[in-house]
Amino acid sequence: MDLPRLENILSRYEGESWDLIPVLQDIQDSYSYLPKEELQVVSERLNVPLTQIYSVATFFKMFSLIPKGKHQIKVCLGTTCHLKGGGRVVESLSHRLGVEVGYTTKDMQFTLETVGCLGSCAQAPVMMVDEKYFGRSTVDKVPKILKQYK
Ligand code: FES
Repeated sequence: MDLPRLENILSRYEGESWDLIPVLQDIQDSYSYLPKEELQVVSERLNVPLTQIYSVATFFKMFSLIPKGKHQIKVCLGTTCHLKGGGRVVESLSHRLGVEVGYTTKDMQFTLETVGCLGSCAQAPVMMVDEKYFGRSTVDKVPKILKQYK
């Protein structure tokens, strides 16, 4: 546990239960996920039961309980992308990165996720790396896309 880092975050707040979401946001920004030990301390300091903290952490999509990689890969598996081969793109990424969907590579470089429609169906199948869209993704394009982030 990185107590000084956590103390720095907690020092920005009054230590009241209503500080929970902003504290969790700061921890998420700082660590890229919500580490278990840190949540235990937050529970004690803000006097919020740990079960309630986990409810909040799992309810909001912006929070993650598992470590995230430096780059977030999201592959759309909405209907159009699915029909146009999004599943093959996911399989290729999973194979090349050596991770299942929902997990992060051992070197902490990439987290692989699937998502619903990204709103660019005309470009299907679509994937994103961080904030950048890659339309008409194919298995053949996957190595070139990954290379840009290595
Ligand atoms: S279904 Fe993939 S962008 Fe709409």
